[in-house]
Amino acid sequence: MPKPLEGRCVALGVTGSIAAYKALDLASSLVQAGAGVEVMMTAAAQRFVSPLSFSAIVHRPVATDLFDPRSEMGMDHVALARRAELVIVAPATASALARMACGLADDPVSATVLATCAPVLVAPAMDAGMFESPATGANLKTLRDRGVAVAGPERGRMASGLTGVGRMTEPAELMGHARAILGRSGDLAGRAIVVTAGGTREPIDPVRVIANRSSGRMGNAIAEAARDRGARVTLVSADPSAPCPVGADLVVAETAAQMERAVAGAVRGADAVVMAAAVADWTPASPSDRKIKKDDLGAMTLELRRTADVIASVEGPGLVKVGFALETEDLELNARAKLAAKGLDLVVANPACEEGVGMGADDNRVTIIDRSGAAEALPRMSKYDAAWRVLDRVSGLLAAGSGGSAG
Ligand code: CTP
Repeated sequence: MPKPLEGRCVALGVTGSIAAYKALDLASSLVQAGAGVEVMMTAAAQRFVSPLSFSAIVHRPVATDLFDPRSEMGMDHVALARRAELVIVAPATASALARMACGLADDPVSATVLATCAPVLVAPAMDAGMFESPATGANLKTLRDRGVAVAGPERGRMASGLTGVGRMTEPAELMGHARAILGRSGDLAGRAIVVTAGGTREPIDPVRVIANRSSGRMGNAIAEAARDRGARVTLVSADPSAPCPVGADLVVAETAAQMERAVAGAVRGADAVVMAAAVADWTPASPSDRKIKKDDLGAMTLELRRTADVIASVEGPGLVKVGFALETEDLELNARAKLAAKGLDLVVANPACEEGVGMGADDNRVTIIDRSGAAEALPRMSKYDAAWRVLDRVSGLLAAGSGGSAG
């Protein structure tokens, strides 16, 4: 299953805002994700950023003029509109939104938006006053009603020095929107997947917790990858400050007990649960409701009690259960024991103490073990790529209808 942007034709329209410089970053991310990127610029956009900057990134000529006989558009003004599989307008100024809403077609960006049958994503960027004007509101409503996806704008400091709503959504988040749109008809379309992420935090008193080193990145990568294959994703995250992937429903569950409740609720009607969270095995038996003062104590003994095993206790008809096993030694042996003890369909084993992979790292090196006992040992790769490989297996189990620990 190819990733959503791999080999896809994306038309990127850039209009005249200072945020045009961020579109360079977006173009670069799209190229790195494997898309063929065709950039179109309005005359105003070219006052902010040079077409040469974009062509250096996308390795193609940039469409700057509908009437340039040397460009594809000069010969056939709707050729790109037909070829594009996704049209992104970022930044989209108030004026560009008005042109699109009115159906004007006298610059490369608006002409392509008007003529395309591909999905369109716009990222508004303008001064807050312009964004709040009834005219812009009406234009955005028109575009939304026609099925255009609108990302942002965000609140923050603008080029004018004022703070308000009008900043273009960051390229990393726009990438999430682009992937979600292009992945809509992926192999997990129509499936509901629950993913947990992060390390739980068990309170000792109002200021102290027992935590672990999980960064939540593996779980977030699974949530992103599932969304990018068309799934409806609920992310149960132990870290309230972690960014939630675009399009996923976020449930925050900081402690093991909260996670147990959140997962039990979220799996109702779900097709699969992927338990990437590092859940505490013990919690303070009686957390203090006041800060424990050190002068009361010489040495301190904390009584802990066991938490419930979340993944072992969830059930649902046909529910595919995937657990992780984080081990410092005997990786496969321990992982197999967890697969059996917790009634899992798959266990993803990963080393806890290997340089550059696992907890807190960008990469992982996982071995996927199934109920037959077969182990698929994958090389080191990004967490997103590892997530993609795990979901290949989840997708196979769902297609075969072979989820559910009773099966
Ligand atoms: N897990 C869970 N509930 C817990 C503890 C763990 O659902 N209370 C899940 C984890 O999310 C993971 C799997 O069980 O998917 C294995 O977790 P891991 O921490 O590797 O193992 P433990 O079961 O905690 O066993 P041990 O600490 O002895 O290795």
